[in-house]
Amino acid sequence: MKFDVLTLFPQMFEPLKQSIIGRAVKNNKMEINLINIRDFSKDKHKKVDDTVYGGGAGMLIKPDVVWDAYNSIKSEKSKVIYLTPQGKTLSQGKVEELSKEEHLILLCGHYEGIDQRVLDKIVDEEISIGDYVLTGGEIPAMVLIDSVSRYIDGVLANDSVSEESFANGLLEYPQYTRPEEFLGIKVPEVLQSGHHENIKKWRRKEAIKVTYIKRPELLKIAKLDDEDKKFLEELKK
Ligand code: ADE
Repeated sequence: MKFDVLTLFPQMFEPLKQSIIGRAVKNNKMEINLINIRDFSKDKHKKVDDTVYGGGAGMLIKPDVVWDAYNSIKSEKSKVIYLTPQGKTLSQGKVEELSKEEHLILLCGHYEGIDQRVLDKIVDEEISIGDYVLTGGEIPAMVLIDSVSRYIDGVLANDSVSEESFANGLLEYPQYTRPEEFLGIKVPEVLQSGHHENIKKWRRKEAIKVTYIKRPELLKIAKLDDEDKKFLEELKK
């Protein structure tokens, strides 16, 4: 999977050089290229923005620089995502869907945004990371890269993705490590029993319980079997 990021602030992406993503890039499991939109300015002062037609506060990124930056990296397989609060809210399902793409171009706005004409020409999909407004699309682009990369082969340990929160529509069950007793609280006995079937059942029930307490609205779309539903009914009593 290749990510090309069109941004005016490539330095903001330093955090992706750390930890799991940094290692995955080094090991060629994925590629992240940062394209500075300013490099495509033909202006002698490298200007990329201008005032808004019709008046109003702030500056807008000019269409020609974005167009040229896009044309320098587009491919047959590329899909362009514009990070904007106007987009569809990113979900785990969308993350998984995007992980199947070969080449994502992430367009980051800054200032008041980008001239609509170039957006209409190149953007395939608009994505938001939540109903609040940030200073630019850089942090949302990093959120998208981080979440999508976890589905790319070789980035995480084998079963990490299938076991986690949201993988089956439920939140994750509680987990424990040594010591066996901490501040007088013992690790649940079943987890030390070595009985895999019982451990699996306990984790499933705990996941349903946690979801019911913290995010009950998720249960409407979670995949629950008859036993799960029975347990949920008991919880509700
Ligand atoms: N740009 C500014 N705010 C944003 C948000 N919430 N999601 C995506 N891009 C943004």
